[in-house]
Amino acid sequence: MSCASTRISRREVLVGGASAVAITVASGSGIAAAEGPAGSPAERLPISLKVNGGDHVLALDPRTSLLDALREHIHLTGTKKGCDHGQCGACTVILNGRRINSCLTLAVMHDGDSVTTIEGLGTPEALHPMQAAFLAHDGFQCGYCTPGQICSAVAMLDEVGRGIPSHVTADLTAPARLSEIEIRERMSGNICRCGAYPNIVEAITEVAGAMP
Ligand code: FES
Ligand code: FES
Repeated sequence: MSCASTRISRREVLVGGASAVAITVASGSGIAAAEGPAGSPAERLPISLKVNGGDHVLALDPRTSLLDALREHIHLTGTKKGCDHGQCGACTVILNGRRINSCLTLAVMHDGDSVTTIEGLGTPEALHPMQAAFLAHDGFQCGYCTPGQICSAVAMLDEVGRGIPSHVTADLTAPARLSEIEIRERMSGNICRCGAYPNIVEAITEVAGAMP
């Protein structure tokens, strides 16, 4: 049995549901606003980046990742967003000569820094040797991971040249030798969902000049 005080029409349920959603959204944005001053959107901060040799002056929400700064603000979309959580390596760029997951770092932490993306390694007319080797060895299928793979490989070879050991380096007193297991270990942060790993290793090996 129902009475007038407890009877709720379908329309009231819908309105009530919409209100609940609105409250949920409002509280969600309240969390974000709490990170900015006095409930206002976060203040934009000036930042200067040198990307592929060009200077870029931006005003960014301090929560902007380096990846989003490159893709959404500088419009260099060669760097890919895969997981956005540091798990896949699709967003790898070279920052001041070292490879880095650009989704895991805030752009405002890199004022004045130098970034190289896949667009800065070579051009269609003059490919970087690593880009040419990936083409020659079919080191990709869908290509989504490829910019990150190539940036990572270029910086990885530089690490080897500087004598930086990896987890599988057996002799820490000898110059690093780039065996297949070394390449696979050093590139393990770059996931390829298409499974192009054998060809990627071949391409890197060719560039490294390490193939027996
Ligand atoms: Fe950065 Fe996956 S998008 S590691
Ligand atoms: Fe498709 Fe690597 S080529 S994910």
